[in-house]
Amino acid sequence: MTTTEHQSVPPTSPSAAVTAGAHATESARAGLSNLRGPAAGGADPQRVATVVGAALEGIRAAIRDHEVTYAEFDAFKQWLIAVSDTGEWPLFLDVYLEHEVEKVAARSQQGSVGTILGPFWLPDQAQLDSPATLPMREDEPGTPMILVGQVTSTDGTPLAGATVDIWHTDDEGWYSGFASRPPAGNLRGVVRCDDQGRYELHTRKPAPYTIPLDGPTGQMTQAAGWSPWRPAHIHLLVAAPGHRTLTSQLFFTGDPYLGNDVASADKPELTLDPQPTGNGAEIRSDRDFVLEPES
Ligand code: DHB
Ligand code: FE
Repeated sequence: MTTTEHQSVPPTSPSAAVTAGAHATESARAGLSNLRGPAAGGADPQRVATVVGAALEGIRAAIRDHEVTYAEFDAFKQWLIAVSDTGEWPLFLDVYLEHEVEKVAARSQQGSVGTILGPFWLPDQAQLDSPATLPMREDEPGTPMILVGQVTSTDGTPLAGATVDIWHTDDEGWYSGFASRPPAGNLRGVVRCDDQGRYELHTRKPAPYTIPLDGPTGQMTQAAGWSPWRPAHIHLLVAAPGHRTLTSQLFFTGDPYLGNDVASADKPELTLDPQPTGNGAEIRSDRDFVLEPES
């Protein structure tokens, strides 16, 4: 598909922002967006004063330095209210802030490179044995794609019992469970690796994605003249007993939005360069994962 086709997709009813926002808020309330750490415990006043104080001072500095007017201050209030009303807090936070939290977390992480989780993971998806095909519609559009690889520990030991939880958009950039289409469970699944930690997964190549354009996050993005696009990506959670779960994404060489990801989540180490298999339009990529033992 081309960029123009994607952008011309008419808003669904209710709006794409409200549908995605409501589902993402529900997921976050259920704790599903916090896979990398337990809920923050009792607040340490010193920590609150330091971090919240620095965040507020950053905003106050912007007001002073750029002579923000009452009209602009009120526009900001209205925008914050709209983010709440549409349920877009998880979308906004994962696009504009999660990548910094992830980079801090990555400082103390070994094994394969990770990136943000984003707002669209769902639990309890189809459990599949490798080689596996993700659940999809009979006529699922998009280029057939095979992803194969092995999961090992940092010392090279193959991890029998590893699982690769995968979710991605369809060929039009929609996530199942967060848009009025595609159907529940589409292009989501948890693949069990073989006894050598190997997996083989058959799916469709995803398409680039725009954050919902009809909600406050998308409107703010466009008002600033920033691109609302994420390069096409496949989300993964790679897990194995006794190991720290890897949260990552895979991107595609040649994607026009690489290096200009609205969520700042793309990294050079995460780019795939799939090659034709010789079987029609089908393409294939190899990708191994290294997990860090839990201490
Ligand atoms: C958003 C969408 C994504 O696909 C993602 O990985 C991160 C954020 C969003 O719309 O907020
Ligand atoms: Fe995503």
